[in-house]
Amino acid sequence: MTLSLDKSEILQKIDNTSNLSELEDIRLFFLGKKGLITSEMKSLSSLDIEQKKQKGQQLNVLKNFIENELIKKKNYLDTVLVNEKIKKEKIDVTLSPRNYEIGKIHPISQSIYKVIDIFANMGFSVESGPDIESDFNNFTALNIPSHHPAREMQDTFYIQDSSNEEKVLRTHTSPVQVRTMLRTKPPIRIIVPGRTYRSDSDSTHTPMFHQVEGLLIDENSTMAHLKGCLVDFLKEFFEIDELKYRFRPSYFPFTEPSAEMDVAFTKKNNALKIGEGKDWLEILGCGMVNPKVLENCKIDPSKYQGFAFGMGIERLSMLKYGITDMRGFFESDFKWLDHYGFSPLDLTSFSGI
Ligand code: PHE
Repeated sequence: MTLSLDKSEILQKIDNTSNLSELEDIRLFFLGKKGLITSEMKSLSSLDIEQKKQKGQQLNVLKNFIENELIKKKNYLDTVLVNEKIKKEKIDVTLSPRNYEIGKIHPISQSIYKVIDIFANMGFSVESGPDIESDFNNFTALNIPSHHPAREMQDTFYIQDSSNEEKVLRTHTSPVQVRTMLRTKPPIRIIVPGRTYRSDSDSTHTPMFHQVEGLLIDENSTMAHLKGCLVDFLKEFFEIDELKYRFRPSYFPFTEPSAEMDVAFTKKNNALKIGEGKDWLEILGCGMVNPKVLENCKIDPSKYQGFAFGMGIERLSMLKYGITDMRGFFESDFKWLDHYGFSPLDLTSFSGI
């Protein structure tokens, strides 16, 4: 007995399909519930044992053959489809270069570069420290013991870390004074630009802001050197020759004596003019490093002394670039950045080092 199903005819049929749905039709035609092979299988029951065995084997071989051929063709069609898709989704990566003016330097970054530029010329190097600080570095070593009222001068974000040790988001850049003094020996001459955090938010305060710390330790620097250094810095930063300023006595636990520095300003047509006028703007805190802080940082206060200062970079930038609302710095508004930002290739305001 021979089968009416011819292998080469079947192969031809499969070969002629050009998509997955045609292929499925062929599968159903042979192997579906009512397909040719299936009904042939059913008709086996009317045959005697020998014939049943023989025809059954032939049918099985044929069934395996069809299944294999269908899989081969399906794999082939799948590859063709994927290749077609890849071809369709091809993108042109040969775009012409973008206009460099599209990217702008944020005014905070610009101010930091400028501050570094000026102090580097005076012999200061740049230090940094982590945003998450130990209570010791942020407070205790700086002569602010726990429960000291000075802790309430700053609204601190407290953090519990896995070791259960109390940590803080640093409230100022002053902990880097401690880190540097514990790590190196005098003479020390550093500035520390960086992020700081206080629980405070309105048009002149944001919970995250930037400061630049300064620390100088040697054997004979005085308050006069501190004044000279800061006045030189401000003249250079604001690009003015005459600067009207005043040093006002103040209090910081980590400096003694302490002072705050104000610069004069006038407001004309909603624009600020820095360095002259009748009004005063507080611009920084400073003082001679408290001998207790030197002791806490393993530096001999009978041999060494020095000064420290800290200023807000947002405040400096607002005055220099005429920005009135501090929140704009952190709203990531592209139009704002386009207006207040700086061209990355414009180095004209730097000293060229
Ligand atoms: N750390 C002070 C503040 O955040 C500023 C300061 C720094 C004052 C160094 C004196 C000396 O307000």
